[in-house]
Amino acid sequence: MGRAFVYVILGGGVAAGYAAHEFVKRGVSHGELCIISEEPVAPYERPALSKGYLLPEDPARLPAFHCCVGTNEERLTPKWYKEHGIELVLGTRVKSADVRRKTLLTATGETITYKILIVATGARALKLEEFGVSGSDADGVCYLRDLADANRLVNVMQSSSGGNAVVIGGGYIGMECAASLVISNINVTMVFPEAHCMARLFTPKIASYYEEFYKSKGVQFVKGTVLTSFDFDSDQKVTAVNLRDGTKLPADMVIVGIGIRPNTSLFEGQLTLEKGGIKVNGRMQSSNSSVYAVGDVATFPVKIFSETRRLEHVDSARKAARHAVAAIIEPEKTTEFDYLPFFYSRVFTLSWQFYGDNTGDVVHFGDFSGNRFGAYWVNKGQVVGSFLEGGTKEEYEAIAKITRLKPAIEDLADLEKQGLGFALTL
Ligand code: FDA
Ligand code: NAD
Repeated sequence: MGRAFVYVILGGGVAAGYAAHEFVKRGVSHGELCIISEEPVAPYERPALSKGYLLPEDPARLPAFHCCVGTNEERLTPKWYKEHGIELVLGTRVKSADVRRKTLLTATGETITYKILIVATGARALKLEEFGVSGSDADGVCYLRDLADANRLVNVMQSSSGGNAVVIGGGYIGMECAASLVISNINVTMVFPEAHCMARLFTPKIASYYEEFYKSKGVQFVKGTVLTSFDFDSDQKVTAVNLRDGTKLPADMVIVGIGIRPNTSLFEGQLTLEKGGIKVNGRMQSSNSSVYAVGDVATFPVKIFSETRRLEHVDSARKAARHAVAAIIEPEKTTEFDYLPFFYSRVFTLSWQFYGDNTGDVVHFGDFSGNRFGAYWVNKGQVVGSFLEGGTKEEYEAIAKITRLKPAIEDLADLEKQGLGFALTL
């Protein structure tokens, strides 16, 4: 059996939702577009899963956070897809792809043919087994990538209230989930191999602010080490985490957030890969001209830094998805994607934004004992990155703007003295 479409989006996450919205804005006929997703629900704003979804009171639940509410645009419910003649093939994994024949084979045995394919398969959570530790499937051990993981995590959190959680990993998942656990009255110990949290982005000084804040909420940090094994009870439920230094941490539950791998496997040997993702040009087009790739799975040219990057953040997924559709529908009017990297997080009452690149010298500014501070990164005499905690909308817009302008800096001490004022007055 089989069906044929003009456009197929493979993957039903954030990028898929924003791509579908753009297709409709630019005019797609009924029956031309199909989205195939392993998940059983229409595209939604994945960032909600580590934030509102985990709240003990009035938690976020679908259909409230379907795409595109993350950018205050219309909410694309299953009804919306139906009304626009977009086929949603949900709960269906694509198990092989043939880019020469332009076909996808689903796990249900259907062959779906496309003229143009947008790959938006995102990424999978790295498992502890890939680091030689077993126990990922045990009761009480949680990962967080999709709705099924989030539902499982919510159940485990409810049964662990008042108990102990160990969070493995000091990145985004670790930090955001630790905050949600504290809010749910669960004692948290964070374990990670680096010297400080958010090591891929934060400076030691910035990290220290957040760690102190977390400590004030009762979170404990065990840094510079990794887990080597779990202890389980007779029902195979986790009871403790054993660390390399011999420490045993009692645990009613564990959350593991140790990074991701892009879902490229369907296309290995068929499309050019780079930096772990599907290599695309400034139109998000892969080495096969009928196949585009967007979101976590794509490695694209970041014009402002004259190099290709694979970003794992929602803003880039949304904008790249819209750009790919523009390039497909109106190729002659669409220029190269020109994206300024943007990352953010919200935990407890805190909220930060980062733009650009965290390379070169760092100049911190503001009040690190209060809740409004930041940093600039200066590389080869130019501002290339900016970070701000506790800013207003206008202040965030100002740091984004100066990062894009890359102003020349002669005196780092002067930049430090001007602080946020430098961005606001430029
Ligand atoms: P995404 O993962 O959203 O979607 C991929 C889809 O493809 C999934 O539906 C998957 O099931 C499907 N799929 C994969 N293989 C398939 C196959 N073979 N067949 C069928 N379907 C297949 N970023 C940020 O900037 N700020 C934030 O606050 C957060 N918060 C956050 C929280 C949590 C819990 C996570 C996991 C991630 C974030 N992120 C984030 C990252 C952000 O969510 C991420 O960058 C985007 O979701 C990427 O969008 P994609 O569409 O590329 O992948
Ligand atoms: P991450 O890359 O942010 O952090 C991974 C962390 O894993 C590292 O900081 C390190 O502490 C830890 N680690 C690595 N190897 C380890 C090991 N062997 N043992 C123990 N710890 C180890 O990845 P993540 O936190 O898992 O997040 C997954 C994805 O979700 C990322 O793509 C991230 O961008 C995305 N996400 C983003 C946000 C946001 O932007 N606000 C929020 C949540 C998730």
